[in-house]
Amino acid sequence: MKQSVKLIAGNWKMNGFAADLAEVDALVSELAEEAAACRVALCPPATLVQRMADRARDTLVEIGGQDCSPEAKGAFTGDISAAMLADAGATLVIVGHSERRQGHGETDAVVAAKAQAVFEASLAPIVCVGETLAQREAGQAVEVVRRQVMQSLPVALACQPFAVAYEPVWAIGTGLTPTLQQIEEVHRAVRSAMIERLGLGVMAVPILYGGSVKPDNAADILAVPEVGGALVGGASLKAADFLGIIRAA
Ligand code: PGA
Repeated sequence: MKQSVKLIAGNWKMNGFAADLAEVDALVSELAEEAAACRVALCPPATLVQRMADRARDTLVEIGGQDCSPEAKGAFTGDISAAMLADAGATLVIVGHSERRQGHGETDAVVAAKAQAVFEASLAPIVCVGETLAQREAGQAVEVVRRQVMQSLPVALACQPFAVAYEPVWAIGTGLTPTLQQIEEVHRAVRSAMIERLGLGVMAVPILYGGSVKPDNAADILAVPEVGGALVGGASLKAADFLGIIRAA
């Protein structure tokens, strides 16, 4: 099946200061010169969302948050709501990244509540799933990812804009990637679990691959059936590297 346009999203994680906004300027000006064949997004730390969104206004580059509270407002010191990210100029929010699931104890139920909060703020969630190395070695990758998809996607997302990102935990920041065949196998399982959960309306929803995507492996990964884009960590920090991935899409 012909997929809709690919989404290349950068996740800056806990990196980036005001000085690094020059990378966004470089990205925007390079992309203005060429007709990018994909959607492009950057998810900076919350402190940079507004400033990045201001610089990217009326350009191809969408800005997203990396996480949000499942709550809409109130006494939740330190938390940021999806509506606040929208107010700062974000159109997307990553939820359920493995660094949140593992480092902050986020369960599938919490991830689903966050995705619901993103939807209610009229933003598009990028819902992350992925197996650990132990789960992959035990032959459980497909089963684990299937369960995460079924339990992390709120039913409200049927017919709404969102994305799923398959990110094997062992491939994040390690330089290791699954084989193209393994990526295809999991992406097909993600698609079928999405359909089971939300119906056939999800056929065009992009399923991103994430985990050590670099300019030199992006073309091969993005050509795998059912890969609808990439979620890029380290290689999204510098415009030159990120452009190499965007141009491969
Ligand atoms: P990486 O991170 O590209 O640095 O492996 C990907 C991610 O965590 O989204």
